[in-house]
Amino acid sequence: MQKTSNLIWQDTQHQALFELIDKIKEVPFDPEVLTRLKLYAEHHFVLEEAYMRILDYPEATDHIEAHDRFREELKAMLETDPTMHQALQVSLSDFLYKWLDLHVFGIDKKLEEFVLKSAFK
Ligand SMILES: [Fe+2]
Ligand SMILES: [Fe+2]
Repeated sequence: MQKTSNLIWQDTQHQALFELIDKIKEVPFDPEVLTRLKLYAEHHFVLEEAYMRILDYPEATDHIEAHDRFREELKAMLETDPTMHQALQVSLSDFLYKWLDLHVFGIDKKLEEFVLKSAFK
């Protein structure tokens, strides 16, 4: 089914997050990728959370908790050995990719629909 409208900023930022997560797999491993991912994810989460607050979004608590779990995962990963083995790079990347995929096509879609119905799109 073709979508007729979407939140451009949200789609663009999700795409950038998927691309950064993909870079975790690159050899040799660049620990800077995790730092960039953390900063970019934070920038994205803060923006979504600002919309939730401004619009008094009814599902904000669960959504912010989901963001917080991702924040914690990334924080733990940043403490990982920067010489990590390739198998670990792949599993970290896959784990984050699956998390983001579920999030983006799950609760983020609900938020998108809510924002699109508001005056703040
Ligand atoms: Fe998002
Ligand atoms: Fe989100």
